[in-house]
Amino acid sequence: MPSASAVRITKDFSIDALSFDEIEVPQPGPVQVLVAIKAVSLNYRDLLIVMGRYSPNLPRPLVIGSDGAGEVVAVGEGVHKFAPGDRVIGAFFQNWLSGGIDPDAAPSALGGSIDGVLATLRVFDPRGLVPLPAHLSFEEASTLPCAAVTAWNALVSTAHLKSGDTVLLLGTGGVSIFGLQFAAMHGARAIITSGSDEKLARAKSLGATDTINYKKTPEWQKEVMRLTESRGVDNVLEVGGAGTLPRSLRSVRPGGQVSLIGVLTGISEPLNLGPIIHSSIRLQGIYVGSVEMFEAMNRAIAAHKLKPVIDRTFAFNRVGEALRHMESAQHFGKIVIRVAE
Ligand SMILES: NC(=O)c1ccc[n+]([C@@H]2O[C@H](COP(=O)([O-])OP(=O)(O)OC[C@H]3O[C@@H](n4cnc5c(N)ncnc54)[C@H](OP(=O)(O)O)[C@@H]3O)[C@@H](O)[C@H]2O)c1
Repeated sequence: MPSASAVRITKDFSIDALSFDEIEVPQPGPVQVLVAIKAVSLNYRDLLIVMGRYSPNLPRPLVIGSDGAGEVVAVGEGVHKFAPGDRVIGAFFQNWLSGGIDPDAAPSALGGSIDGVLATLRVFDPRGLVPLPAHLSFEEASTLPCAAVTAWNALVSTAHLKSGDTVLLLGTGGVSIFGLQFAAMHGARAIITSGSDEKLARAKSLGATDTINYKKTPEWQKEVMRLTESRGVDNVLEVGGAGTLPRSLRSVRPGGQVSLIGVLTGISEPLNLGPIIHSSIRLQGIYVGSVEMFEAMNRAIAAHKLKPVIDRTFAFNRVGEALRHMESAQHFGKIVIRVAE
């Protein structure tokens, strides 16, 4: 008797309360695709969701995980875009296909509003799937839907990154390392911060032009200004949130963009609006991105043979350990779960 497994939040929120459940084998409808998930990457969001710190209104039971890559095992009779054997990745927002974000996007976020991908089998609408770039493994491709699309949306789709621009990346987590790789891909200058000199050395080897240790240089915005000869950077990928935003605003050039992405240090803080107004800074909220952005990014990734940076891969039954590794913030780049060979 075939069966499928899924990692779910059933009742309580905590890493220890996650349950590994046998679920009914999903059957694809006439316009659906059944995918055998091979690999899932984690995002900081998954940790917030599991700990009950993301939203009070999450449906339960909830299959966690937004970022999965796998192989098509069956398609409904109305599906012509994919066939069994195809290698595919799920889009973070199943219903944001193109154009600007619309109200249908958020209710279709995998592993939050709807069941996610940390399961051995899952059905998808074919419009919410994209093909894998050919040079990537399932594990590498699983890193793309959230962190990479977010960095691409902020730098390329929204701010039209170009050669000679300077970007500022905060920390060496998933979003920031993709931001670094996309900056290098476009011939832009990348300044990156970290609390670890060892991680900064690794960032240099990936193309960072300048590095700042935010623990040794707490007023890092001054160093950014020194490095840019008082001009400021063109775009900040602001993943820190309340604790870093005031310094990010002091690091950007007049008319530049601060892409509001994350909340690693908190979500609310009194803010001095003066610099935003006087320097005409564009504060741009970024919420992952569309399928269209995902496909454009994948074309660039394929053309440049870009390889995502994987910190560690954990076995399917080690999800708790993987989440704790993320919580420890010792990682550099992405954390991946191998769901199946
Ligand atoms: N809006 C969106 O669509 C979207 C999409 C993806 C992620 N996010 C959000 O963006 C944030 C980052 O996500 P992620 O998945 O990339 O996280 P992650 O992989 O867990 O990255 C965390 C890293 O950030 C760095 N960090 C922690 N505190 C910092 C601080 N005070 N200043 C500078 N860096 C700091 C640390 O790097 P070092 O050890 O190098 O210091 C840490 O390893 C999260 O808040 C997440 O929820 C939002």
